[in-house]
Amino acid sequence: MPTAPTLALRGVSKNFGMTAALTDMTLSLFPGEVHAIVGENGAGKSTMIKIMTGIHQPSSGVLEIDGAPVSLNGSKAARLRGVAAIYQEPMVFPDLDVTENIFISATSGLFLNRPAMRRAARDLIARIGMTLDVDRIASGLTLAEQQAVEIARALSQDVRVLIMDEPTASLSAHEATELRRIARHLANDGVSVVYISHRLEEVFELADRVSVIRDGRHISTKLVGETDPQTMIAEMVGREVGNYFTKMPSTATTETLLSVHGLSVDGVFEDISFDIKRGEIVAMAGLIGARRTDVGLALFGMLKPTAGAITYKGQPLKITSSREAIDAGIAYVSEDRRKLGLAMALPIRWNISLATLDKFLSPLGLINTGAEIATAWGYKQKLNIRTPNTEIVVGNLSGGNQQKVMLAKWLNMAPDLLIVDEPTRGIDVGAKAEVHALIRAFVAAGGAALVISSDLPEVLAMGDRILVMREGRQMAILNHDAASQQTIMALATGQKDAA
Ligand SMILES: Nc1ncnc2c1ncn2[C@@H]1O[C@H](COP(=O)(O)OP(=O)(O)OP(=O)(O)O)[C@@H](O)[C@H]1O
Ligand SMILES: [Mg+2]
Repeated sequence: MPTAPTLALRGVSKNFGMTAALTDMTLSLFPGEVHAIVGENGAGKSTMIKIMTGIHQPSSGVLEIDGAPVSLNGSKAARLRGVAAIYQEPMVFPDLDVTENIFISATSGLFLNRPAMRRAARDLIARIGMTLDVDRIASGLTLAEQQAVEIARALSQDVRVLIMDEPTASLSAHEATELRRIARHLANDGVSVVYISHRLEEVFELADRVSVIRDGRHISTKLVGETDPQTMIAEMVGREVGNYFTKMPSTATTETLLSVHGLSVDGVFEDISFDIKRGEIVAMAGLIGARRTDVGLALFGMLKPTAGAITYKGQPLKITSSREAIDAGIAYVSEDRRKLGLAMALPIRWNISLATLDKFLSPLGLINTGAEIATAWGYKQKLNIRTPNTEIVVGNLSGGNQQKVMLAKWLNMAPDLLIVDEPTRGIDVGAKAEVHALIRAFVAAGGAALVISSDLPEVLAMGDRILVMREGRQMAILNHDAASQQTIMALATGQKDAA
């Protein structure tokens, strides 16, 4: 690299009480590069970003911009120095249009000069290589378009380091491609782009260099051409990892637990028919917007069917609320990280046991704390939840580790039917296989699972049968042996007709 780094961390450590989130971290970002950062859940990626953007101050070590030490007090100070971050959930004001959103924090006379502002907005949108009407109201934009608005806003403030923390986690494949194209465009324009992702394919497609961090420490920085996924995973996890996406043998029995016939919700989805046996995993594949989540919600009592029948445990299922669904032994784990249903201010242990407190009561009605701790600790080990103990409050865990606590909570309820929506989104590659194994163990013990996933390797690794949806319609239900990424994609995109 010929030039000086735009931004660098030199021996930066960050402690939260007893937790060492970062230790002696050294990393340089150069103009014009896309620099990917990978590591397991809780490795310290987001903490590092928060130090770069002035949200956290280093406990020790130095942050440099253009070779000179700086201290950034808050995100505003960071933006003034040209460092900005965008996250999964874009910060746009739904009632304002694209132009107003881009210049929301402009203090100059520009804000008053509407025509000049629109022209500037158009230039910025063009600079990220996009076409977007600058008069559109933000609430009508897709997530990807909202992210583009955020990026344009950062550009309007002369951003030199643009950080994206898991930006594509909630995007469709098409939108994710678009975002990566914008990231590349910006780098070609001289911006240093930092890209955090658990999707390794995307890292290899986009990045120039990749840094691996593990346990808050820097492990390696390489040109992508100098490494490969297997090496990278081994560096992330600290050991060799086998082929983690092999299909586990089916454990399906002959006992039908759930049978859905012609299920419809007017204007949402129609004529869905399938069954799930005890011991079986049915994976539901489709593009974002295929209405898979809505089918899950209808089975969970949160969306009222307008036609069709559901038979559950041999009886017609009549539920009208999630409470009734839970009482009937149906659990639904939401895909939405913001609606995790976790009590952020309470310890991990309580979050896992609260919904099933009666399991931990002694005959005298006292809580058996020992049993509670043992249960929570068991999930911590199995799911590799990165925390020194189970008394830590959930709000202090990294995003991926919160996701794992949520799964533990629902598995601990021991439902008969588990509906999980995007179970491993935001979860690191090392832990994905653990989640798959836990769900398989759950059905092998007599449960049944409906797994909604946009991750095709995951669909193929988990589904004994695979139901493909497109625009609210069921395209096919395939036996695992008859399914491939190509067949599923063809059905999900409508290139191949419903069977
Ligand atoms: N405000 C905080 N208070 C206490 N501990 C924290 C706080 N923020 C982060 N941590 C801890 O610091 C460590 C690193 O967390 P961080 O969020 O940086 O991980 P990450 O690499 O971004 O993980 P993920 O892939 O799950 O997003 C974790 O052990 C986390 O629990
Ligand atoms: Mg994070």
